[in-house]
Amino acid sequence: MTTAIYGVGSMGGAVLDALADDGEGEVLAVESSAERVAQLRELHADHPTVEVVDVAEAAGRADVHLVLVKPYGVADLLEAISPSLRPDAIVVSMALGVSLADLAAHLPAGTAAIRAMPNTPAKVGQGMTVLSPADDVTDEQVTRVRELLAPTGRTLVLPESQQDAATAMSGSAPAYVYLFVEGLVDAGVAQGLTRQQALAMATQAVRGAGAMLAETGEDPAILRTQVTSPGGSTAAALARLEAHGMRHALADAVKACADRSAGR
Ligand SMILES: NC(=O)c1ccc[n+]([C@@H]2O[C@H](COP(=O)([O-])OP(=O)(O)OC[C@H]3O[C@@H](n4cnc5c(N)ncnc54)[C@H](OP(=O)(O)O)[C@@H]3O)[C@@H](O)[C@H]2O)c1
Repeated sequence: MTTAIYGVGSMGGAVLDALADDGEGEVLAVESSAERVAQLRELHADHPTVEVVDVAEAAGRADVHLVLVKPYGVADLLEAISPSLRPDAIVVSMALGVSLADLAAHLPAGTAAIRAMPNTPAKVGQGMTVLSPADDVTDEQVTRVRELLAPTGRTLVLPESQQDAATAMSGSAPAYVYLFVEGLVDAGVAQGLTRQQALAMATQAVRGAGAMLAETGEDPAILRTQVTSPGGSTAAALARLEAHGMRHALADAVKACADRSAGR
């Protein structure tokens, strides 16, 4: 299988790295500037399955097309690839806020189109991509895309109406976690730890708690209770977080993100 990636920036680069390391088949990377093309060629010189090509070549060669340019560039890109697309091509747009209707408006009739929301932990195989296929996309085509993206992490299929929520809960969520870690590290430094020590502890806490959630399948409230003795030090910390409105801040932030994604 041949996969084209259009736009190899933060997100496209993360997907490319995962597919280059663990994917099957060849990957065609497409970038707009000569400087980026040269950089990518150098970066992937040791990856025999990665080729940096121009848009027309990728459009004609690939079976699956991953669109990772900025949302405002999607329409022009689709117009550019449309004349060369194979009839059985699958186009997956990972651009924020670009709807299935927008995709259909710029693709040849009958092209299989999927709207998707990835996140950057794809780079290390720990991403989440929420896929919303158009009505005429077959289960087999969805399975092909899910298998293709397996090296980037997990995939989930949801109706398009839930893409804005997926953006707020998944696409943007790594940034909330990084902010949390930044704050925790500053707090650790205030307690006398070096920044390096504090970052090592905070990183492992996030990694460990994430693994506990994923591997035990336990409710987070139960896991939290297991760390919280009555009247103890964790309880004191949690009471402060609640008093400072952590839950409210999260609800408000996720709503703001979903609203922005929906153009509200
Ligand atoms: N970053 C995230 O965490 C994240 C998460 C979920 C979804 N997304 C989506 O992923 C897409 C890319 O976001 P990003 O953050 O990765 O942006 P980015 O870092 O700016 O990357 C976009 C890349 O695409 C290149 N490009 C622009 N037009 C092109 C074209 N016609 N053909 C080939 N390459 C082209 C850009 O080059 P120039 O700079 O030269 O224009 C740039 O290198 C967006 O649609 C965004 O909504 C991002």
